[in-house]
Amino acid sequence: MAKIPYRFYLSEEDLPKQWYNLRADMKEQPDPLINPGTMQPAVESDLYPVFCEKLAHQEMDGETRYFDIPEPVQEMYRIYRPSPLIRAYNLEKALDTPAKIYYKFEGNNTSGSHKLNSAIAQVYYAKEQGLTSLTTETGAGQWGTALSEASSYFDIPLTVYMVKVSYEQKPFRKAVMQVFDGKVVPSPSETTDIGRKILAENPGTTGSLGCAISEAVETAVKTEGCRYVLGSVLNQVLLHQSIIGLESKKAMEILGEYPDVVIGCAGGGSNLGGLIAPFMQDKLTGKADPRIIAVEPASCPSLTRGRYAYDFCDTGKITPMAKMYTLGSGFIPSANHAGGLRYHGMSPILSKLYHDGYMEATSVEQTRVFEAAVYFAKKETILPAPESAHAIRAAMDEALRCKETGEAKTILFGLTGTGYFDMTAYSAYLEGRMNDYIPSDEDLQKGFDSLPKIPGIQE
Ligand SMILES: Cc1ncc(COP(=O)(O)O)c(C=O)c1O
Repeated sequence: MAKIPYRFYLSEEDLPKQWYNLRADMKEQPDPLINPGTMQPAVESDLYPVFCEKLAHQEMDGETRYFDIPEPVQEMYRIYRPSPLIRAYNLEKALDTPAKIYYKFEGNNTSGSHKLNSAIAQVYYAKEQGLTSLTTETGAGQWGTALSEASSYFDIPLTVYMVKVSYEQKPFRKAVMQVFDGKVVPSPSETTDIGRKILAENPGTTGSLGCAISEAVETAVKTEGCRYVLGSVLNQVLLHQSIIGLESKKAMEILGEYPDVVIGCAGGGSNLGGLIAPFMQDKLTGKADPRIIAVEPASCPSLTRGRYAYDFCDTGKITPMAKMYTLGSGFIPSANHAGGLRYHGMSPILSKLYHDGYMEATSVEQTRVFEAAVYFAKKETILPAPESAHAIRAAMDEALRCKETGEAKTILFGLTGTGYFDMTAYSAYLEGRMNDYIPSDEDLQKGFDSLPKIPGIQE
């Protein structure tokens, strides 16, 4: 057989024309969202004030297996997709492992990450509905950049609430969003009721994704013709991100490969949910049985140390409540350098699959993550985002175990993005100034104490 190339690209014709909805093959559906106004399961129309209608529909539809990707979305996908499936020959050699390591590289667009895959879809549907502006939050900055790119492409004004710590650590991220006409506001801010309240209670706060979501949602519901868009956690976002997994699976099929292990970092779960989607389908339908591993920071361990409970998706407690692994919406994670993984909750789909034993989760400390990032950069010459480096760490650990056991496993991991805007973090690591904060059980208890009480459902 011909040698597998370093970089394998599908042809443009092979680009998926449909997204895959993992819920259609789940034996049991994730529990429904709860409307905090009625304390009853939410219906599609409850979501209309916040989300545009097509997206609200995708959020609630657990049955339709495949959704057509609208032609204008496919057109913009073609600017940067298909993304390459890379065989990490150099890394394998350096680790002296019999394992075969593949990674799907999503960093080859200006947002520097997979986030553009959902941004394009969400902005397209908003434009189709005739909306006149959008709001969102961003942690690391990748999502805000991706959404700014898509909003400028489809010509809709956008306001981005950026978690304050990232706003300060990454001034150039802000500048990139501004290139694409995104209006960037550090969160918490004085521009919303919830921002003012959070600042009054905790003036020195570095912010969190949960706070920024509250501000973005408040602005959306108070502004005529405006809706909110979210870059992770939601079912619709996992649906759009399924393009990562669909492309990966097709490329591996052409190469005559199939992963024994699929690994992804998990913040709100969107890249992982997308990467694993068709492999999880095989698992759910009994066609194959790959191991699936979520990797999260030890400082924000929602799957490994969180509770499986109903919780708000934001700190201000204005969003619907989702059943998910959560550290409590009141949990403010330490200023970990992987900003995109500083979220208290986890996708309800992934939470359910994890709860039902279909996937594993592990957590890693950030110095070990950066050690892996630097090692990987030197061998593969891509400077990874700190978020992505969580998956690299776990993939390297798996490959090193293969070295011990002599097993030639096939490992696939998601390289979600590049780390060019994360040089403050890289410098901190290289200069020995990075520490590994791990919350105590007491710290976590404070977050669990903030979990909502829902009569008859969660006492
Ligand atoms: C490069 C990168 N990877 C991963 C993530 C984590 O998000 P998710 O769990 O939704 O994929 C982010 C979020 O900002 C990111 O920017």
